[in-house]
Amino acid sequence: MKKFYIETYGCQMNVYDSQLVKKILKDNGWQETQDFRQADLLLVNTCAVREHAEERVRGRLGLFKTVKRERPTVKVGLLGCMGQRLKDQLLEQEPVLDFVMGPDTYRRLPAVLDELEHGIKNKVVDVKLDKTEMYDDILPDRDEESKVTTFVTITRGCDNMCAFCIVPFTRGRERSKDPRLIIQEIEDALSNGYKEVMLLGQNVDKYHYQDVDFARLLDMVASIDPTLRVRFLTSYPQDLKNEVLETMARHENIARNIHLPVQSGSNHILEVMRRGYTREWYLDRIKAIREIVPDCAIGTDIITGFCTETEEDHHQTLELMEQVQFDYAFMFKYSQRPNTYAARNLPDDVPEDVKLRRLNEIIELQNKHSYQSNKRDKGKTFKVLAEKTSRRSEKQILGRNSQGKVIIFEGDKNLIGKYVDIEVYDFTQATLLGRLKK
Ligand code: SAH
Ligand code: F3S
Repeated sequence: MKKFYIETYGCQMNVYDSQLVKKILKDNGWQETQDFRQADLLLVNTCAVREHAEERVRGRLGLFKTVKRERPTVKVGLLGCMGQRLKDQLLEQEPVLDFVMGPDTYRRLPAVLDELEHGIKNKVVDVKLDKTEMYDDILPDRDEESKVTTFVTITRGCDNMCAFCIVPFTRGRERSKDPRLIIQEIEDALSNGYKEVMLLGQNVDKYHYQDVDFARLLDMVASIDPTLRVRFLTSYPQDLKNEVLETMARHENIARNIHLPVQSGSNHILEVMRRGYTREWYLDRIKAIREIVPDCAIGTDIITGFCTETEEDHHQTLELMEQVQFDYAFMFKYSQRPNTYAARNLPDDVPEDVKLRRLNEIIELQNKHSYQSNKRDKGKTFKVLAEKTSRRSEKQILGRNSQGKVIIFEGDKNLIGKYVDIEVYDFTQATLLGRLKK
């Protein structure tokens, strides 16, 4: 059997897409290998959201080049958002590549490999975006390390067009998956022993299939089985409705965690970013979360040094962070992406050193808040889903509570996949340490 090797960069949606790719290849007689030196086909599923993500991929291609030099019959393919963005340019820039595919063309992968194999084509670029592609008939080849928690993509693409963001260009128009198929997919995961599902979309609040909106979908998914824990990612401030929060409050098995990217605390910057909400609106959504789902953890994404950001704008972001006290945050320096609204219309005018200094200031503040958030959990007992043994020791188990926080505790491997009551006795900024409650 011929063997393939695949590496995945970027977001959870890419992880899910790689599982689709694996399924497509396995159905066509391929076998997966974890050792790229043994593979006949090398794949890299890529991210284009920041320049740094692309640089890492180019580094990996350098390594694949050495493999190909030793075994020239090896085929190398680049998949995902970087492929969609750069298309045939990539073949010129990276001669190691035999083919390039975008997020909506994976079902043609066997045909592309065939063409290359039989010399019908020498190189292939297949990157047509498809307004309807949901890979409806393909169940992912789930390969999560833990076999406890899995992903289901419920929407693909994004119609929001935030000024800084490449995603609408690389992943195309927003579309939603038939709820019946979502439920089938989750039932399939449950019958394979999975205990937790993460519903994925660039903006899950825009989920919409006939008369089923996101709140209704959540209700349907949470009702499948009370022992199934349901997570979702990502919420969008402008579209997050109270009905979603009320649905969470009604179902104990919907995880108490909302990821609500704010990007900036300044109304001026939010407007330049074309986010469609104000600081006040955002704070109102936070208030609604706290009222309706009081034990909910809240996380966010922040960009520093976006076009025209002043010191005053930056301070408003710090101030908003103080006000909200996020449990966790992903923080980035603005990275200009070709063809976005910002790249075409706005000056990337915050000097690199200023971007970095501001980034460090928000990271420092967030570290403080993350520490305080964990400190508040000391002494509490949580229902934890045990996921896997910790990297440090076979006797330590890593699990997550409903809020999504990682808790490490001593326990036996046979606890994996089960819910256990864990009392937190200590913490660091990154993790909680707990023990089994007798
Ligand atoms: N809706 C998606 C957004 C994907 S991009 C989601 O929230 O998951 C993830 C995050 O990357 C964004 O929230 C933003 O904070 C950051 N990001 C996107 N484009 C960026 C850019 N050009 N420079 C820096 N950070 C960016
Ligand atoms: Fe990007 Fe904004 Fe959509 S950040 S993915 S355009 S919601």
